[in-house]
Amino acid sequence: MEKSPSHIGIIMDGNGRWAEKRGLIRTQGHLEGLKTAKRIVKAASELGVKYLTLYAFSTENWKRASEEVSFIMNLVKQYLRAEFEFSRQNRIRTRYAGDMAALPPDIQKELRQSIEDTGSFDGMQVILAINYGGRDEIVRSVRKFYQNNQGMNISEKDISLYLDNPDIPDPDLIIRTAGEYRTSNFLLWQGAYSELYISEKMWPEWEKEDLEEAIASFQNRERRYGGIKTR
Ligand code: IPE
Ligand code: IPE
Ligand code: MG
Repeated sequence: MEKSPSHIGIIMDGNGRWAEKRGLIRTQGHLEGLKTAKRIVKAASELGVKYLTLYAFSTENWKRASEEVSFIMNLVKQYLRAEFEFSRQNRIRTRYAGDMAALPPDIQKELRQSIEDTGSFDGMQVILAINYGGRDEIVRSVRKFYQNNQGMNISEKDISLYLDNPDIPDPDLIIRTAGEYRTSNFLLWQGAYSELYISEKMWPEWEKEDLEEAIASFQNRERRYGGIKTR
């Protein structure tokens, strides 16, 4: 039996489909998805999760209509502002993964503020992956390594050390909602041995019980890391 996952990553997918199924516009789905994100952060914190990485916007999501992109960016801002009191009460620390430099300046400012304001909180850490791509993160890591270590041989450990949050352990469990069986560029390096859980439900439909089910499924997995089962 596995213990509870300490780090859970979630690919929050299906906002658009959720809305379209109801005859609503896609942005309505993102609004509902934001409510779900708040609900699941609360649930994860109650369930004792230590790190929760939320995939909110990928390096590929810029391909979408500019209206949808700016709507999502504004939701991020709202989330950061509105959640400070909840974060303070629950000691939740905000972190970031991705290439922040390409985000709109007001979002960057809000993110930096939230990271700073919650920096001393010792509860669950919520890592917001916004303009995040696993490949992009690896490239940025390798570049940073060579800026500091010219002419050296790079190792796996070096790449790990130059990723966005080298102090955070690899995710034990990666959840994807909306029934898609792919990673879509999420935590490629860190997810090498993560257990995967796919939920058919759309993200706006996700509840605490769904997270509990995913954790229960994780607890029945046997993680071998390429080794052989020890009895
Ligand atoms: C996930 O929902 C949110 C983001 C990728 C920003 P989608 O917007 O991808 O919803 P679907 O996949 O179109 O249903
Ligand atoms: C993955 O969802 C990215 C996020 C949830 C932020 P997408 O909807 O962008 O992924 P694809 O296009 O279905 O692979
Ligand atoms: Mg999608």
